[in-house]
Amino acid sequence: MRKSRIIAVSGKGGAGKTVITALLAIVLKEIPELRLLLIDGDPSMSHLARILGLRVDRTLEDVREDIIRAAGEGNEEIRAETVKSLDYYLLEALVEDKGFNLLAIGTPVSPGCFCPANTLLKDAIEALSKNFDITVVDCEAGLEQINRKVFRSVSSLLIVTDPTMRGLQTAEAIRKTAQRYTNCNEVGLVINRVRSPDEERGIKEKAKELGLKVLGVVPEDENISKLDTLGKPITELLSKAPSLEAVKGIYKKLSF
Ligand SMILES: Nc1ncnc2c1ncn2[C@@H]1O[C@H](COP(=O)(O)OP(=O)(O)OP(=O)(O)O)[C@@H](O)[C@H]1O
Ligand SMILES: [Mg+2]
Repeated sequence: MRKSRIIAVSGKGGAGKTVITALLAIVLKEIPELRLLLIDGDPSMSHLARILGLRVDRTLEDVREDIIRAAGEGNEEIRAETVKSLDYYLLEALVEDKGFNLLAIGTPVSPGCFCPANTLLKDAIEALSKNFDITVVDCEAGLEQINRKVFRSVSSLLIVTDPTMRGLQTAEAIRKTAQRYTNCNEVGLVINRVRSPDEERGIKEKAKELGLKVLGVVPEDENISKLDTLGKPITELLSKAPSLEAVKGIYKKLSF
C-alpha cells in the first residue's frame, strides 16, 4: 500500500502560507502519478483556490450544513448513516484540476466561532488523505487549529515566517504547541520574502537562538508581486522564478 503523507503550512498572518502552499502545489503536480490533495484550511479568508486560478462551488462548510440538515431531519439510524457517508459528501466537494484535487473549508455562514468547522476539517483531513499520496494544508494563521488538534496526524509541519522577530516568535509558539498536539515527524521553518544575504544571515541567527530548524529560505520575488498586482494566478509563474526554485529545494529536503 502507498504511504499517505500530510504537510501542514502554518505561521503568522500574512507571512506567505498560501503562496508557499501554492508553490508547493506547482512543484508536486508535475510529479507523474502522484495523487495530490490541497486543502484550503483557512476559514476566515479563502485564497488558495483563487491564487491557483480555480473556482470553488462547494466547500466543507456546505458539507457541514447538509450533514446537519440530514441529521436533524432523521432519527438516530439516519444520523448514523449520514455520518458514515462523510467520505461520499467530502468527495463531492473536491475541485478537480490537472494534477491535483482541492477542498476548501469555506467560511461559516452563521455567526460564532470556527470550532465546529475545525472539527470537521480534522475529520476531513483524516478521511480524505488516505486516498492521496500527499495532502498539503494551507492553515489558518496562528495557533488555534494546532491547539484544537486539527493537525494531529500531520507528517511535516512547515512554519512560514517573514524576516521579522514577530514572525519568528509566532513560529516558536507554533513549534511548541505542535510538540504537544501533533504526531508530526518533522517541523521546519521556511523564511519567506528575504531581500538580501545580510537579512538572511541575521534572521537565520535569530531562528537558531530560538531553537528553530531552518528548512529553507524563499526570496522576495517580484514575479509574484507582478501577478498579484494584475490579479493573475500564481500558476503563470515562470518555471525559473526564484521563489519556485527555492520551494523545489525545500520539498527535496523534507525527510519523508
Ligand atoms: N516570496 C514572495 N515574494 C513576493 N511576494 C510575496 C511572497 N510571499 C508572499 N507574498 C505576498 O505577500 C502577501 C501575503 O501572502 P499570503 O497570502 O500567502 O500570506 P498568508 O500567510 O497566507 O496570509 P493570511 O494569514 O492572510 O492567510 C500576498 O500579497 C503575496 O502575494
Ligand atoms: Mg493565507
